[in-house]
Amino acid sequence: MTLQTETIDVASAGNITVKEIFDLVREDLAKVEEEFARQTAAGVQPINEIGRYLQDGGGKRLRPMLVLLAARLCGYQGPSAIRLAAVMEMIHTATLVHDDIIDEAETRRGRPSTNSRWGNHRSVLAGDWLYMQAFNVAVAERNFAILDLLIGLTQLMVEGEMIQLTLLSRLDVSVDDYFDLIDRKTAALFSACLRLGAILGRSGEEAEARLASCGTDLGLAFQLIDDVLDFTASEARLGKPVGNDLREGKVTLPLIDVLARCGPEERAKVAQVVEDAGFARVPLAEIQDLVVRYGTLESARVRARNYAGRAARELEGFPESPYRDALRSLADFIIDRQY
Ligand code: IPE
Ligand code: IPE
Ligand code: MG
Ligand code: MG
Repeated sequence: MTLQTETIDVASAGNITVKEIFDLVREDLAKVEEEFARQTAAGVQPINEIGRYLQDGGGKRLRPMLVLLAARLCGYQGPSAIRLAAVMEMIHTATLVHDDIIDEAETRRGRPSTNSRWGNHRSVLAGDWLYMQAFNVAVAERNFAILDLLIGLTQLMVEGEMIQLTLLSRLDVSVDDYFDLIDRKTAALFSACLRLGAILGRSGEEAEARLASCGTDLGLAFQLIDDVLDFTASEARLGKPVGNDLREGKVTLPLIDVLARCGPEERAKVAQVVEDAGFARVPLAEIQDLVVRYGTLESARVRARNYAGRAARELEGFPESPYRDALRSLADFIIDRQY
């Protein structure tokens, strides 16, 4: 099991530390890892090998944490939370495999991406296999509400990636386009993780809707910060290259806001990077300077903080518990994270 507990331990988030959040679900998370490992054991060698590589690769395990905490928040005690937490991490992992193929990304979680190790063909198939294995585990719950949720989620995530492709390399992306995109590609999964907790706890439609919208807000905050980190983080810490979004033609919120206000010369610099698909003629530092000088990195952080704040308020209707505190602190962690 290779969870990034060492790095998580040092971060502190609001009321309770990330280590304390982790401690609350430590045993269950270990079982999630076992479930993930069991479910990725395939009869065909490359699938088996890729499955093991993916499970070993670590990652923050935020999505399973959300499922486990939400289930406990809603009073659920049985084994389905662990299985569904594994399902959500498998879905997340499979979408990352496909995302890295689409983005031609070479690094993921500090190691060669699946596509750079096994090539696109094998990676597409391994992603499909893993995705379907997640559904296999979910189907075993014999619960149509869960299947409805996962099918809708899958379609939203695919739509998100598709919208992203249509917006690629365009400088006329609007703020609305941006939010429409990140709502689907990232926030939908966070939302589904929290909603699953309410479904398991049979908490009723209102609680389900409240947790779902809390998850959406957390997910929006998460992707906003992911896009900020692409300008500010170090590759060693992030586990994926910095400046990659623009290199891949993705114009994210900090740059959308710059483009709305800058002059033709600065706009031409951004266009140059997109045209070159890299920083050969316009160095990354010049683009970083733009988002700092126009204050748009900071305004993206403020928006993320607002979403995280709204997520925390949405939890107020639930009874006081360590799980509620933990979810609130996860919102802080999402904002303060450096990776
Ligand atoms: C990466 O998610 C994909 C995005 C939505 C930006 P994470 O940053 O949670 O990835 P891991 O699982 O920790 O590697
Ligand atoms: C998020 O998109 C990935 C998915 C939702 C599948 P990105 O392309 O921004 O994610 P990273 O930056 O590669 O992790
Ligand atoms: Mg990507
Ligand atoms: Mg990104």
